Amino acid sequence: MERTFLMVKPDGVQRNLVGEIVSRFEQKGYTLVGAKMLAVSKELAETHYGEHKERPFFGELVGFITSSPVFAMVWEGENVISEARKMMGATNPQEATPGTIRGDYGIQVSKNVIHGSDSVESAAREIDLFFNEDELVSFKKTN
Ligand code: CMP
Repeated sequence: MERTFLMVKPDGVQRNLVGEIVSRFEQKGYTLVGAKMLAVSKELAETHYGEHKERPFFGELVGFITSSPVFAMVWEGENVISEARKMMGATNPQEATPGTIRGDYGIQVSKNVIHGSDSVESAAREIDLFFNEDELVSFKKTN
């Protein structure tokens, strides 16, 4: 079963959108297998966003994600990596379709509410970066 890493960014946490975002993925039918609030360190931010190191906005990106707590999650389910990206909408909220998370709750590309893994490889890497194995559960739903 596929797993993805999703993170409500500091803007989403401060605007009390955690419950709304969790609810959307629950209602879609995905399973939450790990979640925690955390303050992202500069080192973790630079590793997580390593692929953007040469971009002009890298400093801003690291500064923002370390500015206040995030809500990190691991979700499980069929095709959850690509489906979650559809539910999040385009990276730039002004290009995101209404009905998606960024389309409904964001305006600025730097404060786009949520991050989600973009491939099987990045999901595995990001889950491993943010979570220890014993922080994730594995269960079959019976209700
Ligand atoms: P995310 O999915 O977390 O992955 C990289 C992030 O870089 C992206 O969301 C945006 O929030 C951010 N980003 C992309 N382009 C810009 C930009 N031009 N200025 C600031 N941040 C950006």
